[in-house]
Amino acid sequence: MVTVVVCTAVFLLTAGLLGYAIWRYRARPGNMVAKLRHMHGNPRLEAALIIGVTLLLLTIAIPNIRVLFAASEPPDVENALRVEVVGKQWWWKFSYPSFGVETANELHLPVGRAVVAELRTEDVIHSFWVPKLAGKMDLIPNKINHLWFQADKPGVYYGQCAEFCGSSHANMRLRVIVHTEAAFEDWIKSQQTVAEAPAEASAQEGVRVFQERCTACHTVAGTAANGKIGPNLTHVASRQTLAAGLLPNSPSNLQRWLQNPQAIKPGSLMPNLGLSEAEVNALTAYLQHLK
Ligand code: CUA
Repeated sequence: MVTVVVCTAVFLLTAGLLGYAIWRYRARPGNMVAKLRHMHGNPRLEAALIIGVTLLLLTIAIPNIRVLFAASEPPDVENALRVEVVGKQWWWKFSYPSFGVETANELHLPVGRAVVAELRTEDVIHSFWVPKLAGKMDLIPNKINHLWFQADKPGVYYGQCAEFCGSSHANMRLRVIVHTEAAFEDWIKSQQTVAEAPAEASAQEGVRVFQERCTACHTVAGTAANGKIGPNLTHVASRQTLAAGLLPNSPSNLQRWLQNPQAIKPGSLMPNLGLSEAEVNALTAYLQHLK
């Protein structure tokens, strides 16, 4: 409002003077331009203008800068939920240090509570952007950026990496899933529990294939798998999507992904493992079990 008041006053003054000059010196007989008195240099007027403009700019700048600093942190920073956001080519790692929970591509949050996100990258520059919740913030190598925001309504909010980061930049999507406080606590509890070993034979075969082919890159808490390159799969079956928001999470899409990740996300670090159909089916049975 300070900016609006100052700018409106300046506009009215300058537009008014201009309008007056246009009217006062309009073309008419006996009032030609050649007759106007020309003026060169007026130190007093110039000094007054410089000082006046400086005072006006300070009037705008001082409250603006104070608000910028005040708005860089949530009002109740002690109570804010802290989450770590890590950008990877081409997916998002989300972790909740206070709960020991790590997930990928779907950030679950409670409604009505400020969130302080700590943003970093493990490869190139990415940009975290959930348009309905906050402005963009870049994830920059060797630097930690912070962004705070608050979701006031439960629901699903779509996001997208907003900084060109390689061939599958457009395929680096995310979702923010906002729950009521109680539902968020339930979600955290379910993420903290690990799935029991599967009972059916096909899923047990999947465990064997997983231990042989997948553990260098993926973690499943409660098992020997603790790879850090790809997404943590402890609760992969509880996610809405696969491959950073590209496919709805269904058994047939999981099979498509396992058969040839490159066909879905070009350049993905996950190679085509050349799995047999039986291996794909067994892995799908096992991963579906990781709720
Ligand atoms: Cu990550 Cu674009």
